[in-house]
Amino acid sequence: PQADFMLVGEDPGFQEEQKRGPFVGPAGEKLNQILKAMGLSRERVYISNVCKFRPATRNQTTNNRKPSREEMATSLPFLKAEIDVVKPRVIVALGGSAAQGLLGSDKPVGQLRGSWHQFQGIPLRVTYHPSYLLRQEDGLGEKRKVWEDMIFVMERYHLASCSSLSPEMAMFTPIGSKDSRACSSSLAAAAKNEALITCRSTMAVLQDKKNSYHGKKYTKHILNICKILCMY
Ligand code: URA
Repeated sequence: PQADFMLVGEDPGFQEEQKRGPFVGPAGEKLNQILKAMGLSRERVYISNVCKFRPATRNQTTNNRKPSREEMATSLPFLKAEIDVVKPRVIVALGGSAAQGLLGSDKPVGQLRGSWHQFQGIPLRVTYHPSYLLRQEDGLGEKRKVWEDMIFVMERYHLASCSSLSPEMAMFTPIGSKDSRACSSSLAAAAKNEALITCRSTMAVLQDKKNSYHGKKYTKHILNICKILCMY
């Protein structure tokens, strides 16, 4: 398999062990929503984990404890081999374990996100784990941070094909860039979509773009139909 975009999570949970694939439970559903908002499908990305197998410990009641440093180190050669085959142009580490395992750092996600790192010479961005978003009662602030992290990835690598630009993504596409035609048709589609659900960051960018040609044309209509909030 080859993919431009690789996501690395923590380790397989109960459902992943049953179905023998990464992110097939609730966290996987959340991840699918994030990818959809980016205009990507699971088929276009490669999803893996920093830890491949996590033995049950004594008195362990759930299967979902964090992997230890040793467990992650044991799996690292397998992950490196996967990366050699997949040859991604960008990697996103989902959550603290993935980030710490890949970067050999002790810092929390809050400190590691927001800048570019490297793993085996490949640019790497850190963001929150989808399970963390699921645990937030009002997770809009955290969702917004994940979305902002993904926007950096998308902007730098143009991972979405023009035809599949989501309306949200279109808002972030610089007017006049080579994607601007897709941007315009995507915004037009958004304007027609009465059920469009969007998020605060989209609203903020709409405000920024309101004086541009596309912004002027569609912003008012989109603002009217935006139900705010929750893009994913
Ligand atoms: N969480 C992960 O980090 N990885 C999975 O594969 C599933 C849930």
